Amino acid sequence: MPRVAARFAAFPKYPLSDVPEIKRRLKAEGVDVIDLGAGDADLAPPPAAVAALQAAAEITELSRYPYQLGLPSFREQVAAWMGQRFGVALDPFTEVLPLIGSKEGIAHAAFAFLDPGDAAVIPDPGYQCYFGGTVLAGAQPYLVPLRAEHDFLVPLGDIPGDVARRARILYLNYPNNPTTAVASREYLRDAVRWCREHDVVLAYDNAYSEMAFDGYRPPSILEIEGAREVALEFHSLSKTYNMTGWRIGWVAGAPELVAALARVKNFVDTGASLLVQAAAQAALAAYDDWVPQNIERFRERRDAAAAALRDAGYDVIVPRATMYLWVPTPGGATSEEFVRRALTETGTVLMPGSALGAGGEGFFRLALTRPPERLAEAARRLRRLL
Ligand SMILES: Cc1ncc(COP(=O)(O)O)c(C=O)c1O
Repeated sequence: MPRVAARFAAFPKYPLSDVPEIKRRLKAEGVDVIDLGAGDADLAPPPAAVAALQAAAEITELSRYPYQLGLPSFREQVAAWMGQRFGVALDPFTEVLPLIGSKEGIAHAAFAFLDPGDAAVIPDPGYQCYFGGTVLAGAQPYLVPLRAEHDFLVPLGDIPGDVARRARILYLNYPNNPTTAVASREYLRDAVRWCREHDVVLAYDNAYSEMAFDGYRPPSILEIEGAREVALEFHSLSKTYNMTGWRIGWVAGAPELVAALARVKNFVDTGASLLVQAAAQAALAAYDDWVPQNIERFRERRDAAAAALRDAGYDVIVPRATMYLWVPTPGGATSEEFVRRALTETGTVLMPGSALGAGGEGFFRLALTRPPERLAEAARRLRRLL
């Protein structure tokens, strides 16, 4: 029997890996399951993107290999959008690279910058591809717990000197999944300074840059002085445009850093579909007409879910950004125990905080992926678990 690679041993068992099976069984029994687990909303993508995809399918040239260059007009649209949104001027051909979803680029960045023996500083809990990319690249994850007393920011001053010396990547993600925390410009300045001092790549995951409420506009790390030399910023159309399954995003940053990632990708993929890049270009162009009303849908969901959960007796902080609520599990239950009860006793799928790293223990994450009335119904059901 061929054996699997030893590096698999570093991967934790995914908590609740039996959830899909339990969900299937409950549905077969006629239970009305409310799935608030993954960050994958039920809303439609922009009509402009759908129309552009249909039109692109008729253009024979766009059915060919994209390669890393991809669709030049998509790169130009990205650069224009970054300019309008953040005031960041980028060369579309050397400082932008299309990705097959931002996760793909984030994971592959590890191969561009990490050698065995190097360390990567990773927020815990956090999006799992920071850890995955690091381990697959043969480097060592240094996990930093995100705690409420630090406003769920990575306390850079607490990173030991020997780790800082070996570190080659610092992963940061604000607005943050799963804690919903946001970072001030002052904090981002400190992070850039820390990376410059230690020659570390700042892999800044900005997947939720547009999913912010009440007038808050998250910045780009590339706006911060000195960031251009150390930072790679990852963007996604998944959340902003309800296009999770289209698999499209981009990375922006200094030409040398972007080129290193493109070099890795040359050996593992042939680029994001040109059809999808054409659609993504149309989505970005439709930003002003379409995105604000989409974010408003999530704001309504946030308000409905937060109010109903509070009413049910949960300790909810209303987030300024992202598509999640990050809630302490009641009564000292572990994340996994609580989420298992939510599923089997109430038919509500949640994400255990511990599925996103040991630092997420004691919390559950609720994704705002269903309409307000379904979120309110989920909260009514969860009241029974208190
Ligand atoms: C923090 C964070 N980064 C990146 C992504 C990945 O998005 P994409 O669909 O672009 O790969 C997600 C998706 O859930 C996320 O939560």
